[in-house]
Amino acid sequence: MKLTMQLKSRSYDIILKAGCLANLHQFTNVQNRRVFVLTDSGVPAQYAETIAAQCPTSTIYTIPQGEGSKCLKVFGQVLQAMLDFGMDRKDLLVAVGGGVVGDLGGFCAASYMRGIDFVNCPTTVLAQVDSSIGGKTAIDLGETKNIVGAFWQPKVVLVDFDTLATLPRRHVVNGLAEALKTALIGDPQLFAMFETEHPEENIEQIVYRSLKFKKKIVEQDEREGSVRACLNFGHTIGHGIEAVKGIRGRRTTGLYHGECVALGMLPMIEDPALVKRVRAIYRTLGLPTRTGVNKAKVLEYMQHDKKTCGASITVILCPGLGCWRADKISTAELPHLLGLE
Ligand SMILES: NC(=O)c1ccc[n+]([C@@H]2O[C@H](COP(=O)([O-])OP(=O)(O)OC[C@H]3O[C@@H](n4cnc5c(N)ncnc54)[C@H](O)[C@@H]3O)[C@@H](O)[C@H]2O)c1
Ligand SMILES: [Zn+2]
Repeated sequence: MKLTMQLKSRSYDIILKAGCLANLHQFTNVQNRRVFVLTDSGVPAQYAETIAAQCPTSTIYTIPQGEGSKCLKVFGQVLQAMLDFGMDRKDLLVAVGGGVVGDLGGFCAASYMRGIDFVNCPTTVLAQVDSSIGGKTAIDLGETKNIVGAFWQPKVVLVDFDTLATLPRRHVVNGLAEALKTALIGDPQLFAMFETEHPEENIEQIVYRSLKFKKKIVEQDEREGSVRACLNFGHTIGHGIEAVKGIRGRRTTGLYHGECVALGMLPMIEDPALVKRVRAIYRTLGLPTRTGVNKAKVLEYMQHDKKTCGASITVILCPGLGCWRADKISTAELPHLLGLE
């Protein structure tokens, strides 16, 4: 399967095929330039090695796994390693891993010498259904997620389904939460796959449908001036929960990004019958249905979040299956949204 992101001079192909990592050389020039392969310590080394083996001049750089690597320190270390490797502006960075490697690697590619080519090879469900396309690259500053970054589109995206064979089940489910986001705001047929089939047996179709929807939105609004905001469904509260309960740094228990988004979506669904159906899907998959987190702390974070500060914020609501609307609400309404009053 193949999709093409149509963004004029920044257009690119998204290849969806088991085993496609071994064919990188067919999709981009790896012969006459240096190739910097970025991965993390939790991604089985064989994936980065498969990429590097196709490139006569390559190096593999491995960052520690986890959200904590999306920080200025690791960003600086990667750029230094790129410089030490002698990279110039015609060279290539290939990210092999989940959303952490993709977001950090994309931002390194966007920044190094004001921008070099970037190929994304997502190896988690979350990265395959969502983060690997669209060009949003970023790192965090402390607890503030994705606050430093750039729009930088990849040259090609290789979605190799074989890589999911080694992914722990919790991460499979974590990624499915972002696919469910897409289903709720834009694809009732995808939602049906969650309700009536075994999502884990249909990953390839779920990835394809999710990327197809995101591609359509990004093509209309690459820089999030309008419709792209719908992809933030579940993220306003989700990021608040992630700040308080996300797994990162020394905090090794808690929730992953998709799990936080899953929780963040529930208060944004306006139809109570649909909320019930979504909760049932969460229970089947093993996604959390309750935060188990101090809501007052989430509220405090949201009220002080640099991204939401000001008298009002825009939230994305789901009035019914397959649709969404943006609403500007006063920050004074946040406690109500969180069920705090
Ligand atoms: N740029 C965007 O548009 C966008 C969209 C959604 C999410 N995100 C970002 O994505 C990040 C989360 O991504 P994630 O959920 O992929 O987390 P992740 O990148 O941390 O990967 C999860 C874990 O799985 C391991 N792993 C990766 N591939 C594996 C494989 N094939 N087999 C075994 N283990 C593997 C990793 O080492 C890591 O420990 C967050 O930082 C979030 O902000 C970005
Ligand atoms: Zn997300």
